[in-house]
Amino acid sequence: MNKPIRKAVFPVAGLGTRFLPATKAVPKELLPVVDRPLLQYAVDEAREAGIEQMIFVTGRGKGAIEDYFDMAFECETLQRERGKDLSALEGTRLAPGNAVFLRQQESLGLGHAIWCARDIIGDEPFAILLPDEFMKGAPGNGCMKQMVDAYEKVGGNLVCALEIPMEQTPSYGVIDPGARDGVLTEVKGLVEKPAAGTAPSNLILPGRYILQPDVMKILETQEKGAGGEIQLTDAMAAMIGKQPFHGVTFDGRRFDCGSKAGYVEANLALALEREDLRDHIRAFATQELGIDSVATAA
Ligand code: G1P
Repeated sequence: MNKPIRKAVFPVAGLGTRFLPATKAVPKELLPVVDRPLLQYAVDEAREAGIEQMIFVTGRGKGAIEDYFDMAFECETLQRERGKDLSALEGTRLAPGNAVFLRQQESLGLGHAIWCARDIIGDEPFAILLPDEFMKGAPGNGCMKQMVDAYEKVGGNLVCALEIPMEQTPSYGVIDPGARDGVLTEVKGLVEKPAAGTAPSNLILPGRYILQPDVMKILETQEKGAGGEIQLTDAMAAMIGKQPFHGVTFDGRRFDCGSKAGYVEANLALALEREDLRDHIRAFATQELGIDSVATAA
């Protein structure tokens, strides 16, 4: 019997310099895709997978994230007085026991950010979601839900595995894959940001993980790796061979919202799915692109 996944860590301390000046005063994780912040989608995804406690590893200048998941007292009171609908705020308020905010005091890397949550994680397996990777699954079957389903079968450690063009692999953590069985691929090795032409495959880590707590012990003494940072990928690699380790192929769409192009694509794709916006946006896109029609998003 595998221990249930009850906790998720969201590393949200990054400065978001790629989105300056938008991120000068607003955390990048709170930038909206249509009308919901990126981080809200990740929290919804975790909740849908049965995860109860959300652990945010923040940093200086990221206070708005804590406010965001609190009660919006003035806004809610005013809206109620005016008889306005409050459904847009659904799922945005986390009960105190379900939200933990920690600070990563120095930018030492993703591995270090995760290690900051070690006392809250204790000896339980846990999930990690990188919110700027926007993973869009069918309703009720998001990426983390698919990973938890896989975890219940095989246990151990799991990473989401995504195929991308080979030339993009130097920007990511890359899997050295073994045998594949349905959505599961054995992970034989992991390498963070391989030099061009050296990646073991085009199967990358798009920011969703289920890990055993042992990774925290490894992170404690993990040396700096790619980019001079303490890398989660390196700590995970040290667990291969000692515990089951699988990649999970996600049935859904991925938008890399850490890049401007991916962020714009996510906004467009979601707007084309929204009943209240679809017709308007389709008409606009059709006209803007000078084409006869634009296919409705699936
Ligand atoms: C991080 C991880 C990398 C992963 C990527 C996904 O890199 O270190 O393994 O593939 O996120 O977006 P970063 O984008 O922070 O450089």
